[in-house]
Amino acid sequence: MEMKIGVIKGDGIGPEIVDEALKVLNKVAEVYGHSLSYTQLLMGGASIDEYGVPLTDETLKLAKESDAVLMGSIGGDAKTSPWYQLEPSKRPEAGLLALRKGLNLFANLRPAVLYEELKGACPLKEEIADRGFDMMIMRELTGGLYFGARSTEMIDGVLTAKDELTYNENEIRRIAVRAFDIAMKRRKKVTSVDKANVLDSSRLWRKIVEETAADYPEVELEHMLVDNCAMQLVKDPAQFDVVLTENMFGDILSDEASMVTGSIGMLASASLNETKFGLYEPSGGSAPDIAGKGIANPIATILSAAMMLRYSFDLDREADAIEKAVADVLRDGYRTIDIMSEGKRQIGTREMGDRICSYIM
Ligand code: IPM
Ligand code: MG
Repeated sequence: MEMKIGVIKGDGIGPEIVDEALKVLNKVAEVYGHSLSYTQLLMGGASIDEYGVPLTDETLKLAKESDAVLMGSIGGDAKTSPWYQLEPSKRPEAGLLALRKGLNLFANLRPAVLYEELKGACPLKEEIADRGFDMMIMRELTGGLYFGARSTEMIDGVLTAKDELTYNENEIRRIAVRAFDIAMKRRKKVTSVDKANVLDSSRLWRKIVEETAADYPEVELEHMLVDNCAMQLVKDPAQFDVVLTENMFGDILSDEASMVTGSIGMLASASLNETKFGLYEPSGGSAPDIAGKGIANPIATILSAAMMLRYSFDLDREADAIEKAVADVLRDGYRTIDIMSEGKRQIGTREMGDRICSYIM
């Protein structure tokens, strides 16, 4: 298969971790006989430095022309980086939001898995960690508070800020359908998270999710209020299979879920639209404090590349091979510093990439 991949290395540790993912993709292409071509794209801080804006029209166009985009991470230290002296609409994060919107990436998949080998990293009590967990957070990504009208103005002499939260039924239905489709391939349970005891947008959310559920009689649906969900994630994460939620709640809950795994450097993500196109990126940030030191964990980006093969190219066998290689490397005791524990062997970013490649045959 021929694959045209846009590559956004990004800021901070982005370039280092993406290089390892590309190494792994090249190995897969060699072993399984595929042809890959890469187009380097600038977004975030790197684009500000080059063009003065975090995303140019040209970059968006090139991204659209790719089959999929693999991304590192963007942004810098908000206290020290000059990017954060710019007005909010010109900062690195604005580029990411414009890219999500411009590519219509409404479905964000964030798996949070407790790896058997890394159970020790889980900050929860042993009896909870022992049960393990494997959930998929499905976050709506192009609506809600993130993309509503906002303003800050003086009203009757009082400085007042406003952010609008809007969802229409179509926006809810399309992400709900995705969540149920994915649940059908997993343990057939959807937990839809909202704040229906307060918000109108959540009451509509619940209604549309229930209508959608009628088409999936095999899938168990439950509704959960977002505050309760925040508690349940630390009390009993094993109860969750697919967690379906709106943009802002999903932002918060997915960070919580990743923390509970104890190893954010391991978590991949995919952002999808109606077509096969997707943007794939690690869940973690750009970690400017360790950039360039060769110690960042590239596994989340490597697993994001595996998600890309699975969701954009239907190459399940190849995706399985990458996931298995990651599991093998962990089994054999190799760790980057963020997941290091006693008796294991600590290695750097590049060696982790090389070792994972060596298990793909
Ligand atoms: C994420 C990030 C972004 C978000 C920021 C960087 C705008 O936190 O991908 O979760 O809030 O969506
Ligand atoms: Mg976030």
